[in-house]
Amino acid sequence: MQDKLIIFDTTLRDGEQSPGASMNREEKIRIAKALERLRVDVIEAGFPAASGGDFDAVKAVSQAVGESAVCGLARALDTDIDRAGEALAVARRSRIHTFIATSPIHMEHKLRMTPDQVVERAVAAVQRARRYTDDVEFSPEDAGRSEEDFLCRIIEAVIAAGATTINIPDTVGYSLPPAFGAMIGRLRERIPNADKAVFSVHCHNDLGLAVANSLAAVMSGARQVECTINGLGERAGNAALEEVVMAVKTRQDAFPCDTGINTQEIVPCSKLVSSITGFPVQPNKAIVGANAFAHESGIHQDGVLKSRETYEIMRAEDVGWSANRMVLGKHSGRNAFRTRMRELGIEFEAEEALNEAFARFKDLADKKHEIFEEDLQALISEQIYESEAERVKLIALHVCSDTGETPRAQVVLKVDGEEKTSESEGSGVVDATLKAIESLLATGASLLLYSVNSITTGTDAQGEVTVRLERGGRIVNGLGADTDIVIASAKAYLNAVDKLLSSAGRKHPQVADV
Ligand code: KIV
Ligand code: ZN
Repeated sequence: MQDKLIIFDTTLRDGEQSPGASMNREEKIRIAKALERLRVDVIEAGFPAASGGDFDAVKAVSQAVGESAVCGLARALDTDIDRAGEALAVARRSRIHTFIATSPIHMEHKLRMTPDQVVERAVAAVQRARRYTDDVEFSPEDAGRSEEDFLCRIIEAVIAAGATTINIPDTVGYSLPPAFGAMIGRLRERIPNADKAVFSVHCHNDLGLAVANSLAAVMSGARQVECTINGLGERAGNAALEEVVMAVKTRQDAFPCDTGINTQEIVPCSKLVSSITGFPVQPNKAIVGANAFAHESGIHQDGVLKSRETYEIMRAEDVGWSANRMVLGKHSGRNAFRTRMRELGIEFEAEEALNEAFARFKDLADKKHEIFEEDLQALISEQIYESEAERVKLIALHVCSDTGETPRAQVVLKVDGEEKTSESEGSGVVDATLKAIESLLATGASLLLYSVNSITTGTDAQGEVTVRLERGGRIVNGLGADTDIVIASAKAYLNAVDKLLSSAGRKHPQVADV
């Protein structure tokens, strides 16, 4: 029988560590449900000890997910492990992932602990995690730069203490595929109780080698890969789930294992993550980039028309590329709307929320007639953002743009309950609008990114705007969607400002105080 390659998705945890990609509870639930439709085996939902918000989000994902196991990250500290155990208590299948750094550089400079102390702490952490669940994963952080003899010692000890998965992270993306693969093979051979645990890898992409390193490890016996949708993650990101899965599926001649992933859900999931985080997917990105299956050259087009195998090694429809599917129209009723939302994993807890979403849908359908899956996702994002906006709300926007005249904008905002109006000129109406908003709010934030993407095709499509702001070292993303891109821009800017003004700080798992 062929081995199963376990897919452990960490979009909601390591992915969230990308600056500006932090997600709230509702966003995490929506992505978790999409991951479940994708049939990932394990969803790492967050780091519960980071903040009250992170704890709640992991708990909410544990409640929402039925099939995939839900995992919480914990440093090798009693308090972290207890927080993770509590957050995961409601999950149907739960996993605690505990870690401690093992490289000389991390032990000496970050932890200020001796190797003996690190082993002792790791064993105690695994034992404590086993009080909450039988499914315990241990990671020696920075394994890629750790001494192999020490790795063997600590891994043997944690397996004896009850760890069921051993994850080898290339934390700083330093490893090269042949050496990384060989190391996994040697660890499995040298550690006497290695057969009592599944070996896993978690590779970062600093040298663009995360997927290559992960696949080399699979060839040497790793049977779990940790990855993220669109390769999101700390710094240059993690191994991209879609690339790992499709490499293994397409090259079954080379791999003695396969995943249980429902590949047709890859593209919808990629679009959802991109839309929620505001991280666009580059057009030439493998599998999920807009050009991944587009043949521009005449020779290629000719070949594909005669026989698709000439230039295509995978079928676009197998990874979920299809012409935008029209899902609802102007005449669709409330029940059809609710059913379609349910299929997308969106449940309305209260009748008022459904009514509000339906009213927004009718509004949109009046403007653009054909409503696609992506439109519904954007509509829900917006409803959530607006319901959570604590400080600022857009009340009205008026813009004026005439050939040969300076563009102008007038905005009316509600700021902490009080209505305020401002006007500004700009190089275009978007610039004038954002300047008018800034003159009212005086956030002093720097604009790091402004981007507009068309959610679907056609000139009546909604534009989705991402605004990234930075203030005092904190980076936040704001999103807004509308058939009018100036309104979408104002909404995105206000969404970012609201996050900047209201959200509380959280701990970072790998920089914190063990
Ligand atoms: O990159 C890393 O080492 C991690 C660990 C917490 C597994 O993210
Ligand atoms: Zn990582």
